[in-house]
Amino acid sequence: MNITVIGTGYVGLVSGVCFAELGNRVICVDKDSSKIEVLNAGGCPIYEPGLKELAVSNRAAGRLSFTSDLADAVRQSEVVILAVGTPPLPSGEANLAYIQEAAQEVAAAMNGRKIIVIKSTVPVGTNERIAEVIRSRTKQPFDSISLPEFLREGSAIKDTMAPDRIVIGADNPEAAEIMVQLHKPLTEKIVVTDIRSAEMIKYASNAFLATKISFINEIANICEKVGADVTQVAGGMGFDKRIGPSFLNAGIGYGGSCFPKDTRALIQIAGNYDYQFKLLRSVVEVNQDQRFNVIRKLNTVFDGEFVGKTVAVWGLSFKPNTDDVRDSPALDIIGELLDFGVRVKAYDPIAMDSFRELFGRSGVEWCGSAMEAAQGADALCLLTEWEEFAKVDLFQLQRVLQRPILIDGRNVFDEKHLLGTDFVYYSVGRPSLNQGVKERVPVL
Ligand code: UDX
Repeated sequence: MNITVIGTGYVGLVSGVCFAELGNRVICVDKDSSKIEVLNAGGCPIYEPGLKELAVSNRAAGRLSFTSDLADAVRQSEVVILAVGTPPLPSGEANLAYIQEAAQEVAAAMNGRKIIVIKSTVPVGTNERIAEVIRSRTKQPFDSISLPEFLREGSAIKDTMAPDRIVIGADNPEAAEIMVQLHKPLTEKIVVTDIRSAEMIKYASNAFLATKISFINEIANICEKVGADVTQVAGGMGFDKRIGPSFLNAGIGYGGSCFPKDTRALIQIAGNYDYQFKLLRSVVEVNQDQRFNVIRKLNTVFDGEFVGKTVAVWGLSFKPNTDDVRDSPALDIIGELLDFGVRVKAYDPIAMDSFRELFGRSGVEWCGSAMEAAQGADALCLLTEWEEFAKVDLFQLQRVLQRPILIDGRNVFDEKHLLGTDFVYYSVGRPSLNQGVKERVPVL
């Protein structure tokens, strides 16, 4: 199949490369010519494990190309996939300007029947709106498809090549069947439905996963008070097939480009129809507050005296194996520490540059290694569970820190790691692991 993918962000580039890997002829388009130059030079504008290698091999095999010439790409393709960004507006609603612009350009370039697919996450009704935009600009026939994307950053290739399910929203069964055939090599679990339901499946899935995370974080906060261990609690809950074990890791809350944006957008979409999504509002509120538990724990160990202290921060990306720092809890935590007059020394294996750029504030000392960041610090906060942090020698870490205070925001360490160390250790929802911490008597 000849496919054009418009937008070379996480969704567009990964989808394009994977469709090429399946044997299709794919043209990836981006109006940002610097990205296209990087891709044509064998590089990759984003960090995603395995993506660069797969892009290079498919390009070498002649199945994948990169261009800024949208019109030429559209003319060569039967299927055109829109995967441009839908960043949030101040109201929380998705900004549809980029997708509308891309649709207008596609319409202007159409030279025959096309299947026009929207992969960007868009509010219910957007596919119909975009179809009207196209219809108003061309007499050429086309079919609209909603094809929501469920990949996770950091495991995007695996998620795309072995998805849990594919959702296809269509109003023409023939176009739906072409999409089914395109995805059949990936999975048998293909849901074909109407366009509005497909759009809603994406928001409902992300909102539900975000709810699971905020739920377990609140359980963790209660565990800290009653003397229970949230990892045991989550494990015990997860064996129930109706609950399932995934997305029950307590920590400092979710970040990234999807959950924060999509939860707020769904609240706004419901509000537009006079429906108050009370549950989801609380999920967002709990998530926003959870990250500041790190500061509250520091407040306890510093006895309220932040000024002049040095704090090391390990991990800046919103999760491991990505350089993405959008809505990363580290942005708020480091911002608050600087406001409190703390000297911050930060380190991340991959996301230093992207964080520096998005954070935009001066005053952070950027370090070349985890140990360099920890050197001489009064406390260390671990904010992203990169594998290299779990492998650190805690005895060496204890020696380089000025004071052995470790706030583990992702529950990376356990009893085995801590045995024999003198750390004042706080994690999330595991009060029995708190070493050197004066325990409150559990409330029974
Ligand atoms: C998410 C969805 O999983 C994916 O289906 C959708 O297409 C895009 O949004 P992504 O944002 O890449 O993917 O990352 P994900 O692995 O889902 O994690 C999101 C955030 O939740 C991270 O900040 C992560 O640290 C946090 N998280 C996840 C938890 O705090 N606890 C968990 O148990 C799981």
